[in-house]
Amino acid sequence: MDIARIFKNNQSWVQKKLEVEPSYFSNLSKGQAPDILYIGCSDSRVSAEELMGIAPGEAFVLRNIANMVPNTDLSVMSVINYAVSHLKVDHIVVCGHYYCGGVQAAMKSEDMGILNPWLRNIRDVYRMHKDELNAIEDEELRYKRLVELNVEEQCINVLKTAEVQKARRDRDLTVHGWVFDVHTGKLIDLKIDFIKLLENITEIYRLGPDEPEHPSS
Ligand code: CO
Repeated sequence: MDIARIFKNNQSWVQKKLEVEPSYFSNLSKGQAPDILYIGCSDSRVSAEELMGIAPGEAFVLRNIANMVPNTDLSVMSVINYAVSHLKVDHIVVCGHYYCGGVQAAMKSEDMGILNPWLRNIRDVYRMHKDELNAIEDEELRYKRLVELNVEEQCINVLKTAEVQKARRDRDLTVHGWVFDVHTGKLIDLKIDFIKLLENITEIYRLGPDEPEHPSS
């Protein structure tokens, strides 16, 4: 990688932006009001803005290995808190991707050192869905299904947070589970049934005195 090239790229990007809109950067500096919080994988092939076709300022982004939302991770918990309570985003997206190295590593019986506790969160997803996953004979299909189930479980982790529960009582905050297919470039909405998921988890994970807003009732 030619690092000097990056600075050249940056210069021509600035120039192009200013040609179209002379006040582009001075407008950007006034502040951000993104509508979406995007939680995705750090994988270099899955670049958030490019795959969504959106511009700077439109999404608040967090990327980590295998798009995880562990409840003890200060980084992801702070990002959710800030996006929901201060930026007031209306959408939270957890976007996984097929051929995810993190998910693949969690399917192997291998000591990965410092990655072990991180990947254990994915192994826990496997354990919760062991019967469904073990019934899939084709290894690639099983791997893809674990990617999808991991997205679903991380969406549940988003719904378990106090900020999201509180916000959902006051406004229409929706959580989305997506998968990016590296092989085709397509973004797939898993169309997760959150009403059903909430019914299953509300009893245990409710953190406030009121029932979270329940669109079906
Ligand atoms: Co990945």
